Amino acid sequence: MKRCIGRLKPDLVVVSGDLVQRAAFPAQFARARRFLDSLDRPYLSVPGNHEISILNPVHRFLQPYQLYKRFIHETTEPQVRLGQLLVLGLDSSKPYLVHRGMVTARQLARLELRISEFPGVARRIVVTHHPLLSFPGLW
Ligand SMILES: [Fe+2]
Repeated sequence: MKRCIGRLKPDLVVVSGDLVQRAAFPAQFARARRFLDSLDRPYLSVPGNHEISILNPVHRFLQPYQLYKRFIHETTEPQVRLGQLLVLGLDSSKPYLVHRGMVTARQLARLELRISEFPGVARRIVVTHHPLLSFPGLW
């Protein structure tokens, strides 16, 4: 992967979550950050369900993204504009859902607002961790 990115030199590396296995361990986040930095390319990341601690319920509900924000991004919904392209992160992980994800009506309203702030942009890409559709019987 790293060699491929080094060869292709993409304008942006998009990381759609699950950077770590267990969110309770800062060392895993530090390692993920070192990896991202080693790519030497701009990146945009959204958290996955693994970035929220399942081992520590206090952190899970009171500070679910503490380590993610410390090591990876200060926000869980970053955005990057690359000329006529706008890439928007949308955080589908939720502390009250273990594996599944969801996007709230409030997030969608905010997404519309975020997009409206860039009227001249021709293309928009929205990045989430979880699928936007659920399939009966799978979850
Ligand atoms: Fe996941």
